[in-house]
Amino acid sequence: MATRKKIKKTSAAPIKESKTLFIGIDFGTNHTAISTSDGKKKSILSLVGIPKDAIASKFLKKERLYGDEALKHRVALNMFKPIESGLIKNQRDDLEAAKGLLDYVLGLVDANRDVKKYAIIGVPSQASVLNKKIITEILKDSFDGVMVASEPFCVAYNLGQLEHALVVDIGAGTTDICRVHGTLPETDDQISSNKAGDFIDSELVRLISEEYTNVSVTNEMVKRWKEQSSFVGEPEEEIVVDVPVESSILKLSITKEIKNSCESIIPDIISGISKLISTYDPDFQEELRNNIWLAGGGSQIRNLDVELEKELELIEGGKVFKDTDPVFSGANGALKLAQDMPPEFWQTT
Ligand SMILES: Nc1ncnc2c1ncn2[C@@H]1O[C@H](COP(=O)(O)OP(=O)(O)OP(=O)(O)O)[C@@H](O)[C@H]1O
Ligand SMILES: [Mg+2]
Repeated sequence: MATRKKIKKTSAAPIKESKTLFIGIDFGTNHTAISTSDGKKKSILSLVGIPKDAIASKFLKKERLYGDEALKHRVALNMFKPIESGLIKNQRDDLEAAKGLLDYVLGLVDANRDVKKYAIIGVPSQASVLNKKIITEILKDSFDGVMVASEPFCVAYNLGQLEHALVVDIGAGTTDICRVHGTLPETDDQISSNKAGDFIDSELVRLISEEYTNVSVTNEMVKRWKEQSSFVGEPEEEIVVDVPVESSILKLSITKEIKNSCESIIPDIISGISKLISTYDPDFQEELRNNIWLAGGGSQIRNLDVELEKELELIEGGKVFKDTDPVFSGANGALKLAQDMPPEFWQTT
């Protein structure tokens, strides 16, 4: 009899668990990552492609393409990037693309099934203030409860850095600097600059075109080179890339151009950090300046932590750390936040 009782008890628990799914989504300019309470994770490029005409649609056998697949077939598609310069684009087509993309990532982790779903969506910090309503509106039918939070705050939550911390989230469209002090950040706690990954890419195109007037390089090419070789400060080795020119391949040295383009984002980061420290409670400024975290794809620029510390030496110093999981940190933080919210909270969302 005792055994029977035991079986009954253990089989009841998972049923209850499987009826609720917590979801964290990092909805970024460049990539969208999702992480769920049943342990699934996915990341795709934030791209949506719609076939340009009936021929394209027949050939591709789809009405919508997402992520890498959309990038691969881009010449046959009208492309949508739902977030630009830190904000959700709010034309009808863009909003539909945003909703399509989020529904698609939910499908990738099998989250479209019939369970109660509670989600936190991390977006660039400006969007978390200015586009909050639009995002909750387009998503309200997909979830039983949904909240929008700023990406750098989600990263801080994932790192467990909730008191006296500064997160510098270097994404594609924006670098968001967020001061975290135990509560959800307010407008004054966040500074955003458009000098981020996309800006580095356009600087790199400009600098290479100035140095080598006979070659033409595209944003896609330089982004690839940057992701392979980005650095600031002293170079470790010469960076040489292959560029097709007419019928031959030219070898170009782009060490100086990579360095200068990557360093172009440093002044705004330093001024943002300095502003958020100087306007903080003086009793805790020391702790804040020694707890600076780099996150987002741009945090992988080699030597950035060291160079920022050097620059901070000129304004009383600081300690800079790097997030170890720039792809999933925001989504994982959003998931943790969703799981930690009291049940009453979701009634009001
Ligand atoms: N190794 C690397 N070195 C430098 N930059 C990199 C590296 N890897 C990725 N990046 C850049 O990081 C940026 C993407 O970062 P991330 O995926 O965090 O952006 P996002 O969250 O989608 O954008 P945002 O936060 O602006 O909305 C791109 O510009 C990409 O080229
Ligand atoms: Mg981001």
